[in-house]
Amino acid sequence: MFLGLDLGTSGLKAVVIDEDQQIQAEATAALTVSRPHDGWSEQSPADWIAAAEQVIREIPAPIRAALRAIGLSGQMHGATLLDGADNVLRPCILWNDTRAHEQAARLDADPRFRAITGNIVFPGFTAPKLVWVRENEPDIFARVAKVLLPKDYLRLWLTGDHVAEMSDAAGTSWLDTGARDWSDTLLRETGLDRSAMPRLVEGSEPSGQIRRELADRFGLRPDVIVAGGAGDNAASGIGVGVVGAGQAFVSLGTSGVLFAANDGYRPAPETAVHTFCHAVPGTWHQMGVILAATDALNWFARLAGRDAAELTAGLGELQPPGKTRFLPYLGGERTPLNDAAIRGAFIGLEHATDRRAATRAVLEGVAFALRDCRDALAATGTRIDRLIAVGGGSRSDYWLAAIATALDTPVSVPVAGDYGGAFGAARLAIMAATGAGAEIATPPRIARVIEPNSSLSAAFDEGHARYRAARDAIRGLT
Ligand code: XUL
Repeated sequence: MFLGLDLGTSGLKAVVIDEDQQIQAEATAALTVSRPHDGWSEQSPADWIAAAEQVIREIPAPIRAALRAIGLSGQMHGATLLDGADNVLRPCILWNDTRAHEQAARLDADPRFRAITGNIVFPGFTAPKLVWVRENEPDIFARVAKVLLPKDYLRLWLTGDHVAEMSDAAGTSWLDTGARDWSDTLLRETGLDRSAMPRLVEGSEPSGQIRRELADRFGLRPDVIVAGGAGDNAASGIGVGVVGAGQAFVSLGTSGVLFAANDGYRPAPETAVHTFCHAVPGTWHQMGVILAATDALNWFARLAGRDAAELTAGLGELQPPGKTRFLPYLGGERTPLNDAAIRGAFIGLEHATDRRAATRAVLEGVAFALRDCRDALAATGTRIDRLIAVGGGSRSDYWLAAIATALDTPVSVPVAGDYGGAFGAARLAIMAATGAGAEIATPPRIARVIEPNSSLSAAFDEGHARYRAARDAIRGLT
C-alpha cells in the first residue's frame, strides 16, 4: 500500500492505493487561511500537522500497517521559516500572498533571476518573501536557519530530515531550473546561502524514512519510506498521466492552472508562463497560473449566502456570456498580468442580473482568465489540443463546458475518482519504493469528453474580447 498526502490550501487530502493503483482509503481534513491585511495569506504549520494526524488516523489500521511508502504533494511557494532547533518562527506566508510585490519587482529587475530560474520573480514566490521578512521583521530573519516549502515541513515532521524536491524548489526563485540545483548567486542576493536550503532529491526518489516515534504512534512499519513527492501541480500531472510533451490538464482548485508537460527545459519568462521541473528526473513543464478559480466561486457563494455546488447545480445548458462580466483578480494575478495590485470586478450589472447570471459571469470570468493562460502558453510555442480536468471545480459541467468553448479545446473528465495531487503523490511513493518510472503514470479512464460548443464559439470569442477590454479599463484603478 502507498499513501499520498496532498497539503492543499483549503484542506489536506490522503489517498491510499495498492500495487495496482486501486484506491483503498481516502480521508480529508479542512484548513483555513488567515488574511490579516490586504494581500496577506497565511497558515499555521501546526495546523498542517494536526490535519495530517487526523487523516492518517482515519485510514483503517490494517491498511496503515501495510503501507510501504508515503508520497507528498502540496501547495507551492509558501515560506515556512525555522530556527536552528526547527521551531516555526512565524505563520507560513502562502503562494497567494502578494505583500512582497515591491521586493519581487526589485529582484526581478536583476536579469540573473529570470536567466537562472527561467521565471519571473512573482510576489507569491518564496525568495521575495524572505526579502520582505528581512526588511520588515529583521529579528525573525536573523533567526532563520532553514526555509521549507509547506509539504517539506510535513516531511520534516514525518522523517526528521530537511529535504525538498525539484518541482516545488523551482517555484522558490532560488533554483537553477535547468541545472536542477540551488543557485548560490541568487541565494546570496537575498541574504541567504545554501545552508538555509533543504537537500534536493527528485520527486520519484526516496527522501527519508518514517520516524520511529510516528511509526509506533500510527501503527506503521518502521521501514516506511517517504518519496520526494512534488508541488501540487506537478503531482497532479503525475496523477493524470501528463508527463510527456503534448499532454496537458486544467486544474480548478483554489488557484486555476493550465499545465503542459514539455520535452525539455523551455523557459519563456516574458510571457508570465511558469517553467518548472517536473516530478521525474530530466523532465520539465510549463503552466499558466491564475490566483483565484474555486477561490472566486467560493467568494461569490459566501456573498450570495449559498453553497458553491448549489449555485452551479441548476445552471443547465451552456449559455452565451451575458452583459455582466466578472474579473477574478481578488488578490492580484499572475499569468499573464504579473500584477499584484489589480483587483476583481463585476462590470455590466443590470436589473436582470440575478444570482444565476452572476454565477455564470464568475464561471465565465475564470474561463476567460484560463484562455489568457492558453494564449500565453501559445506565445511560447506550446500548443494544447486537449485537456484533462482535475480539482474540485471540475465537478461543474457548466464550468467545464465554458472552459472547453472559451479555449476551443475538448475537456476530458476522468471516471469517478480524484486523480489530483494526492493520487499523484501516491504514484511517486510507488516509484520511490519500487524503482518504477514515469511509465506507471498512465492517464485515467475517461468518463466523457466535453466538446467546445461550436454554436457558441463566436459569442465566447466576443465575451473574451469584452473581458479583456474590461480588464484593461480597470488596471491601475484602486
Ligand atoms: C502554482 C501555485 C498554485 C499553488 C496552489 O504556481 O501557486 O497552483 O500551488 O496550491
